[in-house]
Amino acid sequence: MPAVRNDADVLRALLTLQRDLALEVHLDRILERVAAAACDLIRAERATIYVVDGDRGELWSRVMSGGEMSEIRLPLDGRSLAATVARTGQTIVIDDAYGDERFNPEVDARSGYRTRTLLVAAVDDREGNRAGVLQVVNKRDGQFADADGELAASLAYTAGIALEHARLHGELREERLRVVRIAEETRHRLARDLHDTIAQTLANGAVSVEVAARRAPQDMPAALVELDALRAKLLAAHRGLRDILFNLRPVVLENGGLAEAAKALAHRLDGTSGVRVEPGRTEALTRLRPEVEAGAFQIMQEATNNAIKHGAKRVTLHAYEKDGETIVRVEDDGAGFDVASVVQHYAQSGSLGLLQIRESARMIGAQLMLESTPGRGTRVIVGIPHVPDEAATA
Ligand SMILES: Nc1ncnc2c1ncn2[C@@H]1O[C@H](COP(=O)(O)OP(=O)(O)OP(=O)(O)O)[C@@H](O)[C@H]1O
Ligand SMILES: [Mg+2]
Repeated sequence: MPAVRNDADVLRALLTLQRDLALEVHLDRILERVAAAACDLIRAERATIYVVDGDRGELWSRVMSGGEMSEIRLPLDGRSLAATVARTGQTIVIDDAYGDERFNPEVDARSGYRTRTLLVAAVDDREGNRAGVLQVVNKRDGQFADADGELAASLAYTAGIALEHARLHGELREERLRVVRIAEETRHRLARDLHDTIAQTLANGAVSVEVAARRAPQDMPAALVELDALRAKLLAAHRGLRDILFNLRPVVLENGGLAEAAKALAHRLDGTSGVRVEPGRTEALTRLRPEVEAGAFQIMQEATNNAIKHGAKRVTLHAYEKDGETIVRVEDDGAGFDVASVVQHYAQSGSLGLLQIRESARMIGAQLMLESTPGRGTRVIVGIPHVPDEAATA
């Protein structure tokens, strides 16, 4: 970048920067350009962009312009200027670092560099969440002026947007992976269920027919017994297949909506492992888009499966409207669980149900509440706001 002389030059340099950044997708290169622009435009020796690492409660120096980069990590609750700005959001300007008690000379002591003047500005995303700070060190000719603070704020804003895009991009990738994992696991379970209920029965059935055919000429009653047993097995397999089809795509959901589907699900699962499953408040509902209803129904199924699997005696399924929202609620009287601790260790658990519940809620734009207390049952509540142009015509 050519040396900057006046306001018009600054403006031109900023516009060029914005244009270049719009074409750049690599986060570190964007931040490096911002830091370099900070040095050039503000006429400073060094500029560092620190980024918040929320998991570790730290700020870390992600890019630096004008010096040898060695990673610096600062506790977010510590005394450093960068952490102070990260906490308060207030820009700090220091004209004489060693004469200012807020300055911590430790980093200088380690690097051998001497800080004279400092300008530190917060880097926020568009929602005002703190993403990091921009720290500009040693104005080349004298002290930082007000205009330098404004330039720093503008560059910090650019860095904030870049960090936000990178975060959203990362989240989207994670979400896609989770969705792929759920779809993969669902196919896996479907294949296993089809194998256990249908494939086995058909294979055994062929053998039974063969046995009956061989017996028939000499011992017709024995052949009939064999065929009778086969009939019972085929009926059981048929029931199994219907269960699978119901779980995949219940016709009653398409025809009657969530309340009817809740009743059908309760009816179908009632008595499984000795658990009472009953419909609760089930009222005719405004119809929603089919994929939204399907997502809500999946949540209902998964929550009911959990109640049955994890020791409830009684489960109640509700589907009704309240304050312009469709509410789906599954309540059980089982052992309950410590939600925070299960969520914390979820990645290692290999379980999928709660993940599927959470992802389904997110994908259909619903609010999910998971209330559980050990010894006092579990309630899974989903609130689906009615978006007028999204509601299907009933
Ligand atoms: N209704 C419930 N009552 C008691 N515990 C529950 C209930 N729902 C979930 N849990 C607890 O939360 C854990 C995670 O549930 P999740 O549905 O994700 O996994 P899972 O049911 O163990 O396995 P999967 O659903 O993958 O077959 C369960 O292992 C159980 O400890
Ligand atoms: Mg489960």
